[in-house]
Amino acid sequence: MTRQIAFNLFEMNCVGHISHGLWVHPENNRHRFNDLDFWVETAKLLEAGLFDSVFLADVIGTYDGYRGGPDTALREAVQIPSNDPLLIIPAMAAVTKHLGFAATFSTTYEPPFAFARRASTLDHLTKGRFGWNIVTSYLPNAARNFGLPDEVEHDQRYAIADEYLDVLYKLWEGSWDDDAVIEDRERRIYTDPSKVRYINHRGPHFSVAGPHLSAPSLQRTPVLFQAGSSTAGKAFAARHAEGVFVGGRDAAAYRENVQDLRRLAVANGRGADHIKAFASAVVIVGRTHKEAQRKADEYRRLSSAEGYLAHAGGGGIDLAAYRPDEVIDDILAREDRPGRDRQPSTRRHPAGTTVGEALERITRFDRGPFVAIGTATEVADEIERWVEGTDLDGFNLRQFLTPGTAEDFIELVVPELQKRGLYRRSYEESTLRERLFGPGNTRLFDQHPGARYRNGANLGSGAALLSEPAGDGTHSTATAAPSYA
Ligand SMILES: Cc1cc2nc3c(=O)[nH]c(=O)nc-3n(C[C@H](O)[C@H](O)[C@H](O)COP(=O)(O)O)c2cc1C
Repeated sequence: MTRQIAFNLFEMNCVGHISHGLWVHPENNRHRFNDLDFWVETAKLLEAGLFDSVFLADVIGTYDGYRGGPDTALREAVQIPSNDPLLIIPAMAAVTKHLGFAATFSTTYEPPFAFARRASTLDHLTKGRFGWNIVTSYLPNAARNFGLPDEVEHDQRYAIADEYLDVLYKLWEGSWDDDAVIEDRERRIYTDPSKVRYINHRGPHFSVAGPHLSAPSLQRTPVLFQAGSSTAGKAFAARHAEGVFVGGRDAAAYRENVQDLRRLAVANGRGADHIKAFASAVVIVGRTHKEAQRKADEYRRLSSAEGYLAHAGGGGIDLAAYRPDEVIDDILAREDRPGRDRQPSTRRHPAGTTVGEALERITRFDRGPFVAIGTATEVADEIERWVEGTDLDGFNLRQFLTPGTAEDFIELVVPELQKRGLYRRSYEESTLRERLFGPGNTRLFDQHPGARYRNGANLGSGAALLSEPAGDGTHSTATAAPSYA
């Protein structure tokens, strides 16, 4: 049976996400990102095109490592100005019924309680269509925005993230029973207190009493996405993530990484198919091959090498400051400071890569790994070849023009993929988790670590019900609470 391929639109609540320089294109609408209509139009377009979801990236600092400050990032609109990704979701949800919304939020700088509530709110308002891209944040400037002198060390960020997730699972999965809200007007009981509990989490990084303030939403835990590529990042993904962005130089490397991910999931007691693997995709499609090439040439002409360099240098080394023949590993060995992590795009270069080679790769969008430029047939062939060769489940579509890239894809590529049985003809499911894992799978799989807290199990000795059932339909208060009478 041919399997359908998932497509998300790769977005960010800003002008320049990853296609730097293209905001100047006369048909580009990126400058309208402050306008709610921009997001409403995007959501309607994607739902008409039967997309899986809109995937919202985010950073909480600026790229000020290039040429000694943020000037280039500001001039080139490299992820600044940018707005909060969570706040645009309700407006998009209001004009759609099926489209999913995956938004990025960092585990490093804000404690988990408030995010748990925001995520539950979004899952309620979207009727179970919310997903969370878990990041630990790589920008040194982000650390300084939240009161720290410098970045938290890389693997330590993942240790914090592990506990952060543990707190969230306790709140989302364990704090409230499904039947806690009874809305009994006659007995004047909105929520049965014997079905809600304090989590009383105490760990090295967080202390959270609970109870969770939101009643259980459809999915409870939002669909968890992650993109770790380091050893710690992959181990984290294998424990928690349900959708993972894999990387690699070419299709063969992707295949290996997808296999590795599934193997690690199984080693963590999860199913090999409990993690969906995604890749970023460059798709430039035209009615003729020549037309697609013309578009790609125009995007190349308008691309800003300075913008890409500011992005790449934001948290790591400033490549423009070195000779092109210098080897990156030598520079890093010479200059690396303890506690300072390097930006992923710098670290991903294979051993022996020179500054010149890295510059060439960073400043070109058409260097892959997944690039399809051509007619709908050519693009669909390439997508099919990759999915067969790598075992990938889906793609995040990179935008060059908004809304042009998504419009072209929907008009030309979607019908071709549908003809081949690789793209849905209608939405069948309502929640985002069901979209990934099939009807009936609205909640986490039982083998997922978050599921262990269901019905208040495994919360530890500190957890307590708000009230013990008294057996006569009334309740005695188990833990002293302030009276507002
Ligand atoms: C497709 C994709 C999207 C990402 N989106 C974000 C993002 O929005 N914000 C962010 O801080 N990091 C983002 N990252 C970076 C990852 O969270 C992660 O830090 C990176 O892949 C390096 O892996 P590591 O954390 O294991 O070192 C993204 C990475 C990929 C591949």
